[in-house]
Amino acid sequence: MNRTRGEAVAAVLLLLLVACGGSSSNPQGPSPTPTPTPATSADPLRADAEASGRAIGAAVQSSYLGQADYAATFARHFDYVTAEYEMKWDPTERQPGVFDFAGADAIASFAAAHGMRIKGHALLWHQALPAWVTALGPAELRAAIRSHIQAVVGRYRGQIVAWDVVNEAVADDGSGLRDTVFLQKLGEEYLDLAFQTAHEADPAALLIYNDYGGEGLGAKSDAIDALVSRLRGRGVPVGGVGLQMHVAAQSRPSSADIAANMRRLAALGVLVNVSEMDVRIRNVAGDLAARLAVQRSEYHDIVAVCVAEPACHAVTFWGFTDRYSWIDAFFGPDDPLLFDESYAPKPAFFGVQDALRRR
Ligand code: G3I
Repeated sequence: MNRTRGEAVAAVLLLLLVACGGSSSNPQGPSPTPTPTPATSADPLRADAEASGRAIGAAVQSSYLGQADYAATFARHFDYVTAEYEMKWDPTERQPGVFDFAGADAIASFAAAHGMRIKGHALLWHQALPAWVTALGPAELRAAIRSHIQAVVGRYRGQIVAWDVVNEAVADDGSGLRDTVFLQKLGEEYLDLAFQTAHEADPAALLIYNDYGGEGLGAKSDAIDALVSRLRGRGVPVGGVGLQMHVAAQSRPSSADIAANMRRLAALGVLVNVSEMDVRIRNVAGDLAARLAVQRSEYHDIVAVCVAEPACHAVTFWGFTDRYSWIDAFFGPDDPLLFDESYAPKPAFFGVQDALRRR
């Protein structure tokens, strides 16, 4: 697929993604009345995002959606949802052919009830993978990948507008593909298999390659660009690239490098999105107010890059309240997100709001 036709396709996909904003009828009946919090009185972020032509999202877990303040804050400010865990292979197909969509369905119906689009995450990843999959031989693995993707994508056909089809398949040093069970048993064409199977299961969905450590410019970013170019060169329907953006304040890729990387990917004919953003501040010097001020500008500057780049169609945060973040367990206690533990919008929230308002 050459670049100009690719760009035309990308434009159509972008139109589709923006158009299906959806209406907010509430088939679930009256939701629990949340206590009025600063979050439910701040201007809705999703209105500014829509005005900027971007989707604004967050990763959630279905068990939290039953909490009134969590649900109210999420519904007010976001129009794009990603399942943080419950659409991965492990929770959806723990045993061959035995599917559990309870968590995924709960997230999908919450999204439908609040006029949100859904991005599925993640069909093929070397983590959150059941042991029975890693024990398969090449032919069985190929069949299992096909039946898993057909079942999961098929179930949400027409509901889910985009899928992270393959996650984190490039080696961190950019030397090539990550050494996973998929690569060992099927070679690089496991990516072709995954994208083609997802496309067959839902031809309208935007299919995304998602990764971290390739947000700016550098060896890993070069390897991701080369991979996407090879795949598209083989006619594999990769329509988007997700830049995870799990960053530490003051030691992240520069905004200029992120912009240059987005433009380089756009030239391949793909859409770009910021897919899992959070900003760690525990190592920033100064008191909490000083650290939160630094965090505000980091969120502002990165979201502003996306708003300025036509091919960047969405920004998703990996959670939205410091009450629930994977960062605390993985990197140590921190305050990486837009709302504090009591759902009060932090300076970071206003940094994002300003960026969406091009201020
Ligand atoms: O749901 C079960 C619960 O029933 C059980 O009681 C509990 C204790 O074992 O585990 C719960 O499952 C955990 C799940 O998160 C939900 O909280 C899994 O053990 C745990 O492994 C899973 O961690 C997720 C991790 O991916 C692995 O799937 C994190 O929440 C999630 O933030 C993290 O997200 C990844 C992205 O998918 C890809 N990029 C990096 C990012 C951070 O690692």
